[in-house]
Amino acid sequence: MRELLAGLLLLPGLALAAEAPPAERQAELLYLLRQDCGSCHGMTLRGGLGPPLLPETLADRDADTLAEIIRGGVPGTPMPPWGFEITGEEARWLARRLKEGVQP
Ligand code: HEC
Repeated sequence: MRELLAGLLLLPGLALAAEAPPAERQAELLYLLRQDCGSCHGMTLRGGLGPPLLPETLADRDADTLAEIIRGGVPGTPMPPWGFEITGEEARWLARRLKEGVQP
């Protein structure tokens, strides 16, 4: 009975986990978003050297496109490629947070 209950409690968590990095990694990514991305895009993501990363400014691009920009950078601009430390899944997760309006 105990195992069954534990299993039922875990199910919704598993469904969410499939589309998102583990909680600790999420915290690291949000820290990176504030410290590293924030140095160009602004601590509140409202822009600086880099453009704002707000839901309204990202609305016309889907999360996959934004994830490719995050991993590949924008050649010829200061936007560096992050593929060496952010996986595709992590980049898509970050892109979805940005489109929702995350406050890192
Ligand atoms: C050294 C400065 C710098 C850093 C650090 C940086 N960016 Fe950028 N980023 C830019 C610039 C400049 C652009 C605009 C490039 C262009 O002209 O298309 C940009 C563009 C983008 C775009 C596309 C936005 C749009 O509206 O086209 C996304 C998404 C993005 N950055 C996410 C990130 C994320 C996430 C990080 C951290 C992992 C990050 N950036 C770190 C400078 C930076």
